Amino acid sequence: MLTKKHVKISKDVSGTTGVFGIIGNPVALSLSPMIHNTMSRFLDIDTAYAPFQVEDGNLATAISGAHALGIQGFNITHPFKQDVIPLLTHVDPWALKIGAVNTLKYNDKGYSGYNTDADGLYTSLMTHNISLDGKDVVIIGAGGAARAVAIMAAHYGAKSICILNRTQSKAHLLAIDVKKYYNIDIEALSLDQWEKVPANCTCFQTTSVGMGQSKDAAPIDELEFYKRISVAIDLIYNPFETLFLKYAKRQGSYTVNGFGMLLYQGVKAYEIWNDIKLTDAQLSFLLDEMQKEYKRQSV
Ligand code: ATR
Repeated sequence: MLTKKHVKISKDVSGTTGVFGIIGNPVALSLSPMIHNTMSRFLDIDTAYAPFQVEDGNLATAISGAHALGIQGFNITHPFKQDVIPLLTHVDPWALKIGAVNTLKYNDKGYSGYNTDADGLYTSLMTHNISLDGKDVVIIGAGGAARAVAIMAAHYGAKSICILNRTQSKAHLLAIDVKKYYNIDIEALSLDQWEKVPANCTCFQTTSVGMGQSKDAAPIDELEFYKRISVAIDLIYNPFETLFLKYAKRQGSYTVNGFGMLLYQGVKAYEIWNDIKLTDAQLSFLLDEMQKEYKRQSV
C-alpha cells in the first residue's frame, strides 16, 4: 500500500534516476536515506536512496540481484560490513586494511568496496579539534566499527590502543590484525578488565549497547572507569547522548556522539558514487540542512 511518505519520495524519481540504498538489519531507523536524499535534492543530482533490510543468509542473493537490477551503490551497515567482502569484485586497500566495507559502487562485473567510516570519524574528530597523535586510545567493542576505529587510531599516531570486548578472543583477533600493519603497543582485554586502562585516555564506544532496546544501558557501569577518560566518543547517534556519554560527562570528560561521523561517512560515500568532491561551502551548507532535516524528523 502506498503511504503519503512513499508518494512524496516517488515525485522526484524518473526513468533515469540512479538508485542507491543501504543494506543492513535492521535499517528502519537509519538516517542514511535522509542524508543522501537531502544531498541529491540540494546538489540537484538525479539519484534516489532507499533502505533495504536483508535477512541473515540472504546477503549474496541480495548483492547479485541488486547488480542485475543495476542498482548503482550501497551503504552496508550492521551486521554485514565484514560478510560482504568476499562478495565484491574489488576492495579498496584502505577497506582491506580495516577488514570492513561500508560503501559499494557498481562496476560492470559486480561491486567495488570502500570504507568511509574511518575517514568520516576522523573528519568528525577534526571538527572538535581532537587529535589522536601520541594519545592512549581505548576502544570498547571489536566488531566492524571497532576495526575502523583501531586502524584509524594507529594510522593517525596513537601511542597505544587498548581494546575491551565482551568476547576477549575477538579483541585479540583485532589486535593481531592491527599489528600486521602498525608497530603499536596494543592490548586486548575483556570488559571487566577495565582497571588496566590508562588514565587520560581517549575512549571510543563502538558497541550497540546504549541504543534501541539497550538505550538505558552502558557497556561498563563502574564510574571509576569513566574517571580515566579525558575524551569520550560514542559512535551511536540515536539517542544523541547515550548513558556511556552521560557517565563520561559526569566524570568531567569531553564528549562527542556519532552524528558527525554518520554525516561525514555519508558525504564521503556520496563523493565516491558521483565522482565529485564537495567544496567546503557546499559541505557546510549541506551539514546545516541535514541537521535541520534531522530535527524536523525527530519532532
Ligand atoms: P558493528 O559492525 O556495528 O561493529 P558487530 O560487528 O556485530 O557490529 O560488533 C558488535 C560489537 O558490539 C561486538 O564487539 C560485540 O561484542 P561481542 O564480540 O562479544 O559479540 C559488542 N556487543 C554487542 N552487544 C553487546 C552487549 N550486550 N554487551 C557488550 N558488548 C556487546
